[in-house]
This record gives sequence, structure tokens and C-alpha cells, in this order.
Amino acid sequence: MARRVYIFDTTLRDGEQSPGCSMNIQEKVEMAKQLERLKVDVIEAGFAIASPGDFQAVKAIAEKIKDCTVASLARAHEKDIERAAEALQQAADPLIHTFIATSEIHMQYKLKMTREEVLERTKAMVAYARRFSPNVEFSAEDATRSDPDFLCRVFETAIAAGANRINVPDTVGYTTPEEFTRLIQYLREKVPNIDKVILSVHCHNDLGMAVANSLAAVRAGVNQVECTINGIGERAGNAALEEIVMALKTRNDLFDVELGVDTRQIYRSSKLLTNITGVAVQPNKAIVGANAFAHEAGIHQHGILANRSTYEIMTPESIGLQKNTMVLGKHSGRHAFEERLKALGYTLTKEELDEAFAKFKVLADKKKVVHDADLEVLVSQKKVEI
Ligand code: KIV
Ligand code: ZN
Repeated sequence: MARRVYIFDTTLRDGEQSPGCSMNIQEKVEMAKQLERLKVDVIEAGFAIASPGDFQAVKAIAEKIKDCTVASLARAHEKDIERAAEALQQAADPLIHTFIATSEIHMQYKLKMTREEVLERTKAMVAYARRFSPNVEFSAEDATRSDPDFLCRVFETAIAAGANRINVPDTVGYTTPEEFTRLIQYLREKVPNIDKVILSVHCHNDLGMAVANSLAAVRAGVNQVECTINGIGERAGNAALEEIVMALKTRNDLFDVELGVDTRQIYRSSKLLTNITGVAVQPNKAIVGANAFAHEAGIHQHGILANRSTYEIMTPESIGLQKNTMVLGKHSGRHAFEERLKALGYTLTKEELDEAFAKFKVLADKKKVVHDADLEVLVSQKKVEI
């Protein structure tokens, strides 16, 4: 039987930490409703102690969202945990997500704590969070730059103290798929009871490997992936939800997993986020970029018209787009040109088509894209000349 992998969306927390992506309460609630339609498993709604606005946003989302688990981030401090618990009071399924750094560099320079102190704090704060919520996730910040044996001790402590989700963040996007695979395998081998909790990963994209690392972790046995819509997030962003979900679906022959996500809501979710934040996605962005289902080259267009699977490994409909786009430009062939004219209501004789196609190629050399309006002009000029 296929293994269930949970999608933990952090667009409204880690994603929102991206420059230019902050959202007000109404915008966060609107986005949360769309994430509920997308059927993600967990919505991390914010960092309740960060600001009064973020507290109110987590509270409003906890009140309105009933079909997803709603999480709030909290450092491993009593005050943070209390604030998260307060914001999540009305949630149907609350999750307190607490974290502490475990790498030498973070412990020495940021926390100014020893290993033993970090272990003590982990134990005390996970237990404290459990007093408020039956669901507690514990993250070891900068896990991929931590000593693996110390990491095992921290996770063992967190599980013993009551954490039922353990998260392995690649906080600075430093790891590689092979290395991350080995780390996950090591943790699964060494940490007692790790198979009794949800094992999660959270990858950043500093070296462009956030999605590849997340997928490697799924292959290595994790059952939760943390990600954001359009891959927004600190610095180079987080792993992109749409890429992870569509890779798991399209290559399920490699993963054999089951997801709850309704992929037909992906495009809408991406668009809504773009509209709210004003931060556009690059045109060649996988899955949701404007060109992700557009075909310009003549050979490709010909193939697509004959059978879509020649150049499409997934359908635009599967992400909620109505159809692919044939972009007419200088690389386009006669076949796509004729098809577009037919769609516009023009059926030309062979000679007319030859002439129109020659004019089209001249025009396409001057313009990046030849639009339907250009074609109308081109064909009507022809009619006048005739
Ligand atoms: O990147 C990170 O380490 C985080 C944690 C708080 C999970 O965002
Ligand atoms: Zn992060």
C-alpha cells in the first residue's frame, strides 16, 4: 500500500518572511482558505509571538479553517509557546511547532548555549508545549550542519518528551540529495521510536536544491514535507509546494506515495499569492510559470498537436489550467500556424497559406511573440491584396 506523505504548507509563516511578501490579516485568511481548498494537511499560519498582527492572523485562521491542521511557530521559550497556544485556541486541530538550533555555529554564536543546555531546553519546552496541545512538532534548526550523533540525542529527547512530529530543516540550503538521504537514513536507524512519529523535512533553496533534497528525503522514508506556494521564503526561498507535489504525482513510479492535495487548485493558489503579494513568478518557473505549458518550437507544436504526451509529462488541466498555450514565434512551424488560423476561423488554400506563412515568418523575426491580432491583420491584408 502506498505510504501517505503529508504536505505542511508554510507560505504564511516562512514564506511570508521573504522580502516583499508580508501579508495583512485579511490576505492571510484569504490565502489560508485557498490552501484549505488545495487540501494541504497543515497550514503554518504564522509566528504568534512575532507581532500583534501575526498573533491575530494565526487566531483568525485557527477560527476559520476546519479541514486542515493549523500550526503556529514558537521558539523554545515558555512565552512563545503560551502565545502560540493562545492563538490556536479555536483551532479544530492545533499544532504547536517549537524549535531550537542544534549546529555548533548556532549554539555558540546565536544561542550561547552548550549541548547539554540545548538538550535540557528541548525536553522542557516540548513537554511544556504538550500541556497546551496534543500535537507538537519539534524542529532542530540548522540540522544539516549539526553533528549527526548530537542530532540523534536531541530528537530522542524531543520524542521522549512528547513531540509527535520531528522536523529536519536544511535551514541554510546547504545539503545535497545524497547527503540528505544518508542523514535521514541515519536518523531512522539510530533514533528510538522515530518510526512512531511523523518525520518531516524543511528545505531552503540557497543552492537551488530544496525540491531535490525534499524528494530525496521522501525516498529515504520521511512522511511530511514542508514547503511554500511559488517557493517563496527567506533568501532564495523554501522548497516549492507545486514542484514537490507534481513531482511526487508524475513520478509516483519512483515514490509510491499518496497525497491529500487537490492538484487542480495549484494554479489558483499560485495566482492568488502573486496577486496578494505582487511578487511575480519567473516565466520559466516549473509548474506555474507562464511558459510551463507553452510551446513555441515548430517540432514541439507539431508533436503536441498529434499527441500531447510527446512534450507534456503532465497536463495543464491537472494543475487547474484550462489548456496549454501554443505561442507563435519565429520557431513555430507551419502546422501550428495553420491550426491557429483555423481556430480563428480562417481556412486558406495551399497557396494562400504559403504566402501567409512566409509573411508570418518575416513578422516573427521582428516580434518576440505573434499574437492572434497580428494574425488577423496578416490574413486580412492578404484578402485585400487578393
Ligand atoms: O528554516 C528553518 O530552520 C525554519 C525552522 C523554524 C523550521 O524555518
Ligand atoms: Zn525555514
